Amino acid sequence: MIQVENLTKRYAGFTAINQLNFSVAKGEVVGFLGPNGAGKSTTMKILTSYLPATSGTARIAGFDVFGQSVEARRRLGYLPENTPLYTDMRVGEYLRYRASLKGVPGRKVKQAVGDALELCSLRDRERSMIGALSKGYRQRVGLADALVHDPELLILDEPTIGLDPNQIRQVRELIKNLGGKRTVLISTHILPEVEIMCSRVIVIHKGTIRADDTAENLLKNHRAAGSMRLEAKGAANGRELLSQLSGVKDVTEEKDGDYTAFQLKLDANADPTDEAMRLATANHWQVRELTRRRPTLEDVFVELTHSDS
Ligand SMILES: Nc1ncnc2c1ncn2[C@@H]1O[C@H](COP(=O)(O)OP(=O)(O)O)[C@@H](O)[C@H]1O
Ligand SMILES: [Mg+2]
Repeated sequence: MIQVENLTKRYAGFTAINQLNFSVAKGEVVGFLGPNGAGKSTTMKILTSYLPATSGTARIAGFDVFGQSVEARRRLGYLPENTPLYTDMRVGEYLRYRASLKGVPGRKVKQAVGDALELCSLRDRERSMIGALSKGYRQRVGLADALVHDPELLILDEPTIGLDPNQIRQVRELIKNLGGKRTVLISTHILPEVEIMCSRVIVIHKGTIRADDTAENLLKNHRAAGSMRLEAKGAANGRELLSQLSGVKDVTEEKDGDYTAFQLKLDANADPTDEAMRLATANHWQVRELTRRRPTLEDVFVELTHSDS
């Protein structure tokens, strides 16, 4: 559905994306992850024909986004990072206008708009002025706009940015419901979002691709560090002793009444749980919690995208 080859974009000498190669198959829901400034929006603007590439090619359903942009755009719905909605139009009116603009035949516009309103739970806002809507509702109008011509592919640039937790949950739910028959490429820097919604993750950092795999494989193959937490009574010298266990990088402590909570940062793949147990027993600490936290996708993401690496 998407094929990107050696895609490069320079802005006045600054390389925003450099020789990107990736593809997205029909029906996949792919997370496009990267910190701010990584090049996500630039890539998406090229894929949606809003911006020409400096070099390389991108195709949507086999159509070149530059040379055959009309054919390519017909097959995709795009939610840009700043949804440019007309604030002085009513929701229904706006969507009808957008549908005709995108080539939905006149006799089908009503049905198409109705379906998009339904899908985005906007039925009761059809007559509201866009300018009077909350940010969450505006985002839904943006999604309805992306969907109104029933595209095979959806390209969503940070669809939950700036929303409150309830609105985020609703938009996520909505995006999940879109999956199945549609292909989705969704950019975000919110990791739990990706774990919930995406079958595959592409990590981009400083304009180059750092990883392209399932979340599961990323976790398996990256030596991201985990951590351990131990809460005990009577562990006055705990910090010093715990620091000496194998695979422990750093220990911090925090008092909680009679108890002390130790937080251990671990080397990749380290698991000093048994050693910590023995240490506690030997020193007669009264342990009320000992937990090891496995590395999360967030740890892998940090490892792949921290500083200059
Ligand atoms: N029109 C532009 N002119 C110059 N630099 C730009 C322009 N748009 C984006 N950039 C730069 O390109 C890099 C990638 O930006 P962007 O694709 O928006 O990243 P992301 O969406 O991942 O946050 C950033 O360093 C940004 O400052
Ligand atoms: Mg962006």
